[in-house]
This record gives sequence, structure tokens and C-alpha cells, in this order.
Amino acid sequence: MTSQIMLIDSQMADLQATKHVLSQGGYNVVEATSGISALKQIESMVRNIDMVILNAALDELNGFEVCRSLRRHPETVHLPILAFTAPTSREQKTEMFEAGADDCMSKPYEPSELLARVKVQLRRSKKPTGVQAAKSKIFAVYSLRGGSGVTTLATNLSVSLAQLWNEDVVLVDLVLASSQARLMFNLLPNRTWEELGRVSAEDIDDHLLNTMLLQHSSGVSVLPAPRVQECREPLDGARIRHTLSLLRARYRYVVLDMPHDLQEGTVAALEESDKILSVMVPDVASLANQLAALETFKLMNYSSHRVRIVMNRIHERNQVDSNHIETTLKRPVDVVIPFAGDAATEAINLGQPLTLAAPESAVSTALEDFAFHLSKKDHSEGQPAEPSQAWQRASRRLSHQQRKGLGRFFGWGPPPLKEPELED
Ligand SMILES: Nc1ncnc2c1ncn2[C@@H]1O[C@H](COP(=O)(O)OP(=O)(O)OP(=O)(O)O)[C@@H](O)[C@H]1O
Ligand SMILES: [Mg+2]
Repeated sequence: MTSQIMLIDSQMADLQATKHVLSQGGYNVVEATSGISALKQIESMVRNIDMVILNAALDELNGFEVCRSLRRHPETVHLPILAFTAPTSREQKTEMFEAGADDCMSKPYEPSELLARVKVQLRRSKKPTGVQAAKSKIFAVYSLRGGSGVTTLATNLSVSLAQLWNEDVVLVDLVLASSQARLMFNLLPNRTWEELGRVSAEDIDDHLLNTMLLQHSSGVSVLPAPRVQECREPLDGARIRHTLSLLRARYRYVVLDMPHDLQEGTVAALEESDKILSVMVPDVASLANQLAALETFKLMNYSSHRVRIVMNRIHERNQVDSNHIETTLKRPVDVVIPFAGDAATEAINLGQPLTLAAPESAVSTALEDFAFHLSKKDHSEGQPAEPSQAWQRASRRLSHQQRKGLGRFFGWGPPPLKEPELED
């Protein structure tokens, strides 16, 4: 479908010239000559506008204010905006980015450059649907017991995946009773899962999701749970399945912060997942819960390959012997996340995930390695064209392990339960 661009410029000659370039580029153009008339038009046809191009200097309401206004409104918060700013004014450009513009250019411009930038913005906002579906991975971070570090792990794995591969990753907060995932990033929600509970499954579309997704600078987008538990009833399986299929089509990685139950929506999310990261802590109650979870997965016919057992050392001291844990579970623990000390809680208080705040710490390293291990083969078996710092760190560790003859990257085999490395 042809994309429709709202072009706002009070200079008639410039307006017509840019309109001509965009039309030649195959876009439909809706024009406005003042900030106020533009906002009115956008309001009346918001679902039909794919992008906004505006001039910084505008009659009535200037370009900065229009930009801020679009970013304030949930329906337009994610609309790509390209702004024309004065060629010599760096401050104007900075202010425009701060007001919410995605890109800035100056006039006069090369028509081919404008079209190239428009194409990039439209591609970013309309990630292809369908084609990626088979290629994406959904990870459900799950525990039947609360307080085991599910949100901490989901958050940091999302960050690591985004940072390793320079990919947009989505973190879906399915814990409707308490909206924690967004707090880990210090993000304020506009709209939340609550909205999805109000419409039928078929009416959930990319546009509606765009109004809810919160972007974090790490590359992680968060689909937040309600701030207050407003849902009259939990989200049903149909809505969750449909939403996940939309997200699968847009993101290479989808990470789910799961509730600690087995309600219909939870089971739907588990079923949609490629891998279940079943979290436990080294104490007896958690072991009992892990055992129950594994038995439930078996009853649901989930292959054991779909499940990874994650031991999260939230306590400084080991409460239960590693051998006892593995003997009881009748399978090895797949990965151990070390005790992070106060850093884990500080990360929550500051709204800055551990893997960003202290990427070289033992806990961040373990999480980054785990994210690498979970990554899609076309990622982990190749070398990125522009290796990120996270990738360089992880691949250094890989080479080191291989040189030492430790076999597979993370030595998932025995002994998986190494003693925790305490944080400073
Ligand atoms: N590896 C770790 N080392 C130390 N503390 C940790 C670690 N992982 C998590 N924590 C701490 O444990 C507490 C619970 O973590 P988190 O909120 O992530 O768990 P949860 O399973 O999502 O809990 P909830 O039941 O509230 O959803 C937090 O205070 C967190 O900082
Ligand atoms: Mg949680």
C-alpha cells in the first residue's frame, strides 16, 4: 500500500517543491501550511498517516511544538517525523531531536537524499510482517514462585540480545498484577495491556501496539502491563496469541516476563514460546516449584529441549546443595546466574538494567553469555558486519573458553553449578 505523508510547511514554494519530490518518489502527500491546521488534519485521519515531514519554522504553532504535541499523543507517539531545520543552527537541530523528531535535514536538500531518509523512517516504523515470523524467537522467562528474579532476568536478557546483535527486541510484561518490567527501564507507560483487554483479539493490530510500546535507548521496546490492576479478568489466550504473532513478525527476539501461575493466558504464552527459561533459586521451596513446573511441562507435552533451567543466585550463600538439586530434578541445571549483591536492587531503583550499568560484572557476563547462547543460529554462528561491544566481549570469552578446551561456549555440561562469583 502506498504510504501517506503529512507535509507541513508555511512556505508555499517549498511545500510544493517537496510535495513534488515525494510524489515522484511514489508517496501520497497530504499538505498543511500551519502547525494548527496540520494537527487538526492528523487528528481526523491519524490511522491513514504514515509519516510527518515538517519545517521548524511554521505559522501559528512552530515545528517544535507540533513535534512535541505528536509525541505527547498516544496515537501519534510513534509516527516517524522528519524535520527541516536551519542549515547553520546546530541548536535548532538538537532542540528538534529533543522535541521528538526522528531525523533532521536542511534545505536545500538533494531529492534523492530526502527520499532515502523517508524510506529509512518508513521501514523502521513498518517492520515487515509475516516474513520474519518463522525467524523470530520467543523466550518465556518463567517461575511458579514469585521473587525468583524473573523480571530481572527477562529485562537483562532483552538488553543483552539487543546489544549483542544491534536488534530491536521487545519485552512483553505479562504480569498484569504488577507492572514491573517498565520500571526496570524507568519508562512511563502511555497505554498498556489494559487496552488490549478492551478490544477483541482480531482488532489488535500493529497500530494499536505502536501506541503502547515504550522505547528504551538500549534497543528494547517494552509492552507494559497496567500500572494499576484494572483488568476485570486476565487477558485470554486468544488476545495473547494474536499479540505475540504480531510481535513475532516485527522483532527477531520477543522476551516474556511471565506471571507465576498457570492461567489460560499464561499457558497460551508458554505454548507460543520457543524456549521456556524456567527460573529457580537455590532453596527448597523453589526446588519444589521447579519440580512441579517440569512435571507440568511434561503433561503439556513440551519437549525437554524447549526448557532451560536457570539457577538464579539471589542469595549470597547456597541454601541447597547443587547435587541434590540436579538429582531431584533428574536433569542438570543449564545456567547459573551469580549473586549480584545490592547491585540487582540498585539497578531496579535506578531504572538501569545491570547489563547496562556494569557490563563487565560477573552477573552481566553470565547474562550476556546466556543471551548469546540463546540467540538464533544465523546470529551466533556468524560475525556481525559491525560487531557491537557486547558481541566483542562475548566472542572474546568464547575464544578463551575454546582455547582452554572447554568445548561448547558456555560449558553447559557438567559442572553447571559452579560456585557463585560474588560481586564487589
Ligand atoms: N542474581 C541476583 N542476585 C541478587 N539479587 C537478585 C538477583 N536476581 C534478582 N535479584 C533480586 O531479587 C528480587 C526479586 O527480583 P525480580 O523482581 O526480578 O523477581 P520476580 O521473580 O520478577 O518477582 P515478582 O514475583 O515480584 O514478579 C529483586 O530485589 C532483585 O533485585
Ligand atoms: Mg516480576
